[in-house]
Amino acid sequence: MSNDAKSYYITTPIYYVNDIPHIGHAYTSLACDVMARFKRLDGYDVHFLTGTDEHGQKVEASAEKKGIDPKVFTDEVSQSFRDLAVAMNFSNDDFIRTTEQRHYDACQALWERLLEKGEIYLGSYSGWYAVRDEAFYTEKEVTKDEDGVMRGPMGVEVAWVEEPSYFFKLSAWGDRLLALYDADPDFILPKSRRNEVISFIKGGLMDLSVSRTTFNWGVPVPNDDKHIMYVWLDALTNYITAVGYPDEEKDSYKKFWPADLHMVGKDILRFHTIYWPAFLMAADLPTPKRVFAHGWWTNEGQKISKSLGNVISPYDLVERYGLDQTRYFLLREVPFGNDGDFAHEAMVTRMNSDLANALGNLVQRGLSMITKNCEGKIPESGELSAEDEKLQASVDALLSDVRSELDVQGFSRALERIWRSVSDANIYVDEQAPWALRKTDFKRMETVLFVLTDVYRKLALVLQPYMPESTAKILDLLSVAEEQRSFDNWSDGMKAGTELPKPAGVFPRYVEQDS
Ligand code: MSP
Repeated sequence: MSNDAKSYYITTPIYYVNDIPHIGHAYTSLACDVMARFKRLDGYDVHFLTGTDEHGQKVEASAEKKGIDPKVFTDEVSQSFRDLAVAMNFSNDDFIRTTEQRHYDACQALWERLLEKGEIYLGSYSGWYAVRDEAFYTEKEVTKDEDGVMRGPMGVEVAWVEEPSYFFKLSAWGDRLLALYDADPDFILPKSRRNEVISFIKGGLMDLSVSRTTFNWGVPVPNDDKHIMYVWLDALTNYITAVGYPDEEKDSYKKFWPADLHMVGKDILRFHTIYWPAFLMAADLPTPKRVFAHGWWTNEGQKISKSLGNVISPYDLVERYGLDQTRYFLLREVPFGNDGDFAHEAMVTRMNSDLANALGNLVQRGLSMITKNCEGKIPESGELSAEDEKLQASVDALLSDVRSELDVQGFSRALERIWRSVSDANIYVDEQAPWALRKTDFKRMETVLFVLTDVYRKLALVLQPYMPESTAKILDLLSVAEEQRSFDNWSDGMKAGTELPKPAGVFPRYVEQDS
């Protein structure tokens, strides 16, 4: 049997190396990182994969432009994506490069299997090709602009290509793809994307050209070295290479394939929900369990593009606002799946109201009272009041509520839910007013502070996947041991008498610099 119940395999798209990392790349990987961290804390054996897509005409052209060998060029740019993973605190277990030998072996094995099964045949291609998308377009999909330039559906320039080519019999797979989506309504999320794919298939599928002969930068087709593989067949295969294919008996393959989730941007949905499952079904290999397509970011209302010079660098965001603040904002601001706009003002509002005020002050208020009034030790709890129990119930339900949201990649809804409890806790503090109780009912003040420490612990535990560094600081301030920070420890509670370190602010406010 493949995939025992407690394993979880999640992938990012592999990034083209003709570009330096920007907010879009950071966003896709961040979403995966939060899923991976959540599942690990929830007891799963997780395999989180990212990497770089290094072949194709576009990369060959970029290297040529710089006057260097494509391998030297890809070594450099691939490293910048590894660096991004470190800078964003991504917890990937592997980083795959399509120029690795293990990947050549997997691609060639898959090719041979498809050939053996009669799914690939030699013919010749004549049609439109967009180098930027590395995609083929039909006559119906292209239009001529005012300057006479032919463009594909995404506005990208296309060129007429005529060359001998191998084809994959994609046209035969339409009904089986529809049956695949039918069997699991959550195979493609969000739902709107699923409908888009279904109507595309219903429009009819054509056989897909899967080899090129006019350039060399790719995986050679076995036994026909005039051809290299179409870069998307090569790239998609990375997901099985990384777990050990073609060795289907390998433990990692048996454990992790089929993948639980391929996270992608909306622009590459078709490749992941049509081509990829069709290749796999044709090779008689299991299909992934889900493809989720997220939306795109704009910058202060404008489309992000190199020519407009408004590309957002994740490094700049982290430097200006902080790492966890950036991670929080990207997943909180926009319902996951929709397009979103990056605006400085929105970022500052989130950073100051949600993080510094609502959560930061909540923690700071209780902990500094403990330092001042309880000798820095967690106080004893007296009998609980109805208000205490009400707050505890709101916070106790967090873990299962967040789990249900993340099971369908509801990143922002999960955060909204967590902030409902943050707000319940702030109302509780205001109403209980422990600073007043200090004089009138010291025992009751101790109970309120005791209740709060466990609320802080649970908020920090469930927020770990989003903000690993800040939550670690909160858990340190609560003297929660490293090995007691998994979701298994959810109901552990706090121990009266535990000594706490001197509290320190966790979420700084953003102060506008004078220009
Ligand atoms: N190499 C292919 C993927 C192959 S996977 C087998 C590729 N690479 S990419 O580098 O161009 O894009 C990677 C991801 O970045 C895509 O999921 C894409 O949607 C995402 N983004 C690129 N620009 C973006 C925004 N402005 N906003 C959000 N995500 C965007 O495609």
